Amino acid sequence: MMEYTTLRNSELRVSRLCMGGCPMGGYGWGDVQEKELIEAIHTALDKGINFFDTADTYGLGQSELTLAKGLGNRRKDVVIETKFGVRFSNSGTVYDNSPAYIREALEGSLKRLNTDYIDIYVIHYRDHSTPMEEVVDTLKTLQSEGKIRYFGLSNLHSSDFAEVLPFKGDFVCCQDEYSLANRSNEEALLTLDKELMATPLTWGSLGQGILTGKYDKSCVFDSKDRRSRDIYVNFHGDKLLKNLEIVEAMKPIAQAHNVSIAAVAIRFILDYLKDSVVLVGAKRPAQISGNLESMGWHLSEEELSILNNISKIQ
Ligand SMILES: NC(=O)c1ccc[n+]([C@@H]2O[C@H](COP(=O)([O-])OP(=O)(O)OC[C@H]3O[C@@H](n4cnc5c(N)ncnc54)[C@H](OP(=O)(O)O)[C@@H]3O)[C@@H](O)[C@H]2O)c1
Repeated sequence: MMEYTTLRNSELRVSRLCMGGCPMGGYGWGDVQEKELIEAIHTALDKGINFFDTADTYGLGQSELTLAKGLGNRRKDVVIETKFGVRFSNSGTVYDNSPAYIREALEGSLKRLNTDYIDIYVIHYRDHSTPMEEVVDTLKTLQSEGKIRYFGLSNLHSSDFAEVLPFKGDFVCCQDEYSLANRSNEEALLTLDKELMATPLTWGSLGQGILTGKYDKSCVFDSKDRRSRDIYVNFHGDKLLKNLEIVEAMKPIAQAHNVSIAAVAIRFILDYLKDSVVLVGAKRPAQISGNLESMGWHLSEEELSILNNISKIQ
């Protein structure tokens, strides 16, 4: 049974499980097949997922194209969130929140998504040069033109709070990395939830896959898979060993509820951050089904406490 919530400052009623679109970019996630991605989108739709996250940067637009193809004429039934703020050029990657670039990026996303409006347009990263007021004014103008319905934030940390808190009530959500493998942004998400009134959205909710129980300490990724790189800390060194300890703690809980280990990782977030929406990337229908096992039940106080203790930052 799907669970839904209404995003703050909006009328958007969304599933608490959002399909993450990073693997749809087809880049850096190992073996990813378009046919399986489209089938995964259809499974998500059929099971009541009505919230889809993507970005113009995922596969340099490929994720938005695949999402549009998968949604087809069901686009009007869903909430699409896409992001702007990262600009690629021959001289490298820059963060750009300037009004001119926001408009340029939006036109590209609208075209690729084959739609005339974006439900939630998200600042992917702050550029720390365009004043927040100018960014918000631009987004409000786009809203009044009907090109976007709402706007949101991502990857915001305590050093950014002073500039965003005056805009309480303007943003519907804020997403950041959060999982049993990485709780470092917990306080930031809770502060923004309370002070900015932005619904917390979590990315990397499965620790990029380590919290599904299918990897062990000898896991090795192809050099084309982003997780082969050291910056994907969840799969390397002591952090990998710690994550495998967390997986061991999840196993009996998964067994007791007759659900996948991934479902326990997702349920922890849903129960611990009570107003949150969990973003999960998936490459094929079976992964969507495994993640859907997180719906319609709760962790007991004792189970929450076990998971809280083993994952909390020391
Ligand atoms: N705002 C931002 O800056 C930002 C950054 C990152 C992500 N995001 C968003 O958040 C979404 C989620 O994060 P993420 O995709 O990076 O990581 P994630 O959701 O933690 O992990 C996704 C990966 O886990 C594996 N998986 C998923 N479900 C599974 C299941 N039931 N059983 C076994 N394996 C499963 C798949 O990879 P394998 O099968 O290859 O293991 C999948 O690609 C993204 O897709 C994107 O939409 C936003």
